[in-house]
Amino acid sequence: MDAVERSRRDYAVGSLGRADLAEHPLRQLERWVADAVAADIDEPNAMTLATVDADGRPDARVVLLRGIRAEDVVWFTDRSSTKGAQLAAAPHAALVLHWQPLERQVRLRGPVVALDDAASDAYFASRPRGSRLSAWASRQSRPVASRAAYEAVVAEVEARFDGVEDVPRPPDWGGYALTPVEVEFWQGRRSRRHDRLRMRPDGAGGWAVERLQP
Ligand SMILES: Cc1cc2nc3c(=O)[nH]c(=O)nc-3n(C[C@H](O)[C@H](O)[C@H](O)COP(=O)(O)O)c2cc1C
Repeated sequence: MDAVERSRRDYAVGSLGRADLAEHPLRQLERWVADAVAADIDEPNAMTLATVDADGRPDARVVLLRGIRAEDVVWFTDRSSTKGAQLAAAPHAALVLHWQPLERQVRLRGPVVALDDAASDAYFASRPRGSRLSAWASRQSRPVASRAAYEAVVAEVEARFDGVEDVPRPPDWGGYALTPVEVEFWQGRRSRRHDRLRMRPDGAGGWAVERLQP
């Protein structure tokens, strides 16, 4: 653990003030994702999705951000997975994006709804064929006896859809959308004197900004 204890980086790439923020947090998120893309960061849309189980215990995993819409952000998954069951029981989540080279983090919290079939179908149809077949071959988060047993199911699915060009969306596969009610933009600064700006609805249709202690 020595390497972990000794790792110590001072943050000095940028700064963040109220004047830098867009009026709406999702417009600001779009800017920061665009910055991450421009900076050539690998998987600039990777984000940690935190949920709670039926007992209120937290869980988290990485998923890919697939859309920033007017009022919500979107990702796709197998809704019969562990995360899907958790979201069915407790439809609230937190998301965290971290772009290390930019020394930036964004945190979002809010209620989550399943996307409608049309939106899920549209995104599923845009996926590469291999990914579409894999969605049929996996009941995400269930145990499987071995890698070989899983590969055997993949082979069955490939045979089943052989010659079928439009592989349909499996019924449990689809999107979720989180509508943020709290978004924090974090920019690392020297000596841990970071900038943190939190945006919450102001009750009049806009967003109030508060600076938080680092
Ligand atoms: C970089 C990265 C991107 C991922 N993207 C997704 C995704 O978009 N959707 C998804 O269901 N799982 C994705 N995963 C896998 C999840 O982290 C996780 O293993 C899976 O969704 C099962 O989670 P659950 O058992 O909590 O439901 C990704 C993992 C990594 C490391």
